[in-house]
Amino acid sequence: MNSRRAFISFLAASPLYAGLGFLGRAFAQTPVSNGDGLIARAGDALDVFDFEPVAHRNIPPAHWGYLVSGVDGEDTLKANRAAYSRYQLQARRMIDVSKIDLSVELFGEKFNSPIILCPLGAQRAFHPEGEIAVAKAAKARGHLQILSTVTSTGVEDVIAARGAPVWFQLYTTSKFEVTTKLVKRAEAAGCPVVAVTVDLPAGRNIETALRLARTDTRTCTACHAPTGSPFTSRPMFSQIDASGLQTTSSSLTWDFIKRLRDVTRMKILIKGLESAQDAELAVANGADGIIVSNHGGRATDTGRGTLECLPEIATAVRGRVPVILDGGVRRGTDVLKALALGATAVGIGRPYIWGLGAYGQPGVDRVLELLDNELTLAMVGVGARNLREITRASIIRPA
Ligand SMILES: Cc1cc2nc3c(=O)[nH]c(=O)nc-3n(C[C@H](O)[C@H](O)[C@H](O)COP(=O)(O)O)c2cc1C
Repeated sequence: MNSRRAFISFLAASPLYAGLGFLGRAFAQTPVSNGDGLIARAGDALDVFDFEPVAHRNIPPAHWGYLVSGVDGEDTLKANRAAYSRYQLQARRMIDVSKIDLSVELFGEKFNSPIILCPLGAQRAFHPEGEIAVAKAAKARGHLQILSTVTSTGVEDVIAARGAPVWFQLYTTSKFEVTTKLVKRAEAAGCPVVAVTVDLPAGRNIETALRLARTDTRTCTACHAPTGSPFTSRPMFSQIDASGLQTTSSSLTWDFIKRLRDVTRMKILIKGLESAQDAELAVANGADGIIVSNHGGRATDTGRGTLECLPEIATAVRGRVPVILDGGVRRGTDVLKALALGATAVGIGRPYIWGLGAYGQPGVDRVLELLDNELTLAMVGVGARNLREITRASIIRPA
């Protein structure tokens, strides 16, 4: 081990790595396992995948099933990842790439990176500090966090930990008065944007989650109230009478944007679109932005990855509103490909939960650091010094 460390220190000090300080740090923190082949601390991770087996070890089977599950045979889950390998980067040389700027502006607010922490429900199911740990990591790295309706921590506490507003994700229900209360609470807490998730109108078949839940015999009061629905027992419903509430809203139509506009000044995003037609309708009906998403392969099992949907949506939107993409993003090169195909910013879901489940806040922090570092190197490789310089010409799709 000593000679290995000495060799790595030599590499890190080499002029080859001059200017790439973060690479030197990564080498200095070469993986040290506990003998089980898993990383022993967050700083040892060399890519986001290093966190997955540690999180798997730490997280109880039913919660792990909730995290990893797709729907039906999980074709869409696989398609989300597979789509990235259909594109290649167009390497460019002899461009001054000594300064790379990852920053992005969304609705007048500047973030250090275009990588967004997507809304994922009930994060205390993965680590006792849940959304608070995520908020602290987002604060440390200057990333945008979107908070789920079914967060296990109230929006006020998350914003306090983030030290800045987060965006609120809205699940609609059968009662508009409940929606109004949720939205008004988020707005009063300081959220500038609400993202309405529309891709789960009538339930879904999360087969893997159901199978793994059968193997878990614990009684889990940390994440489920002893009585009541796991949905309405969450903190955002604490002041709300949820009796008789249906948590799916299969009758939702485009006029909902107008109804929502009447009760909030927040910007309104529609999350869960996969077609040019719907993107066009969203903008025509007054949406301020779109999130191209299939809920991480957890909505309709279309078999179509979100990256495949992005070009037609970007074309339909014509830059009128921001277009955010999520689904299967695991590498900085994935982020670059999505930006090149027209995304304004890119969301990650499971990778930061791997970091959270493995090591709490330091794990989320390291996931963001790794992806930012990888994106920086990808931008260097295609000669793009800022996000505006990432264009369709930065990538190739071989015939
Ligand atoms: C365990 C889990 C819980 C999720 N909860 C929500 C949620 O509460 N609201 C929502 O809009 N999307 C939710 N999503 C979808 C994510 O916001 C995002 O679209 C997806 O995770 C991105 O794909 P990725 O996990 O492959 O990165 C959830 C996804 C997972 C895996």
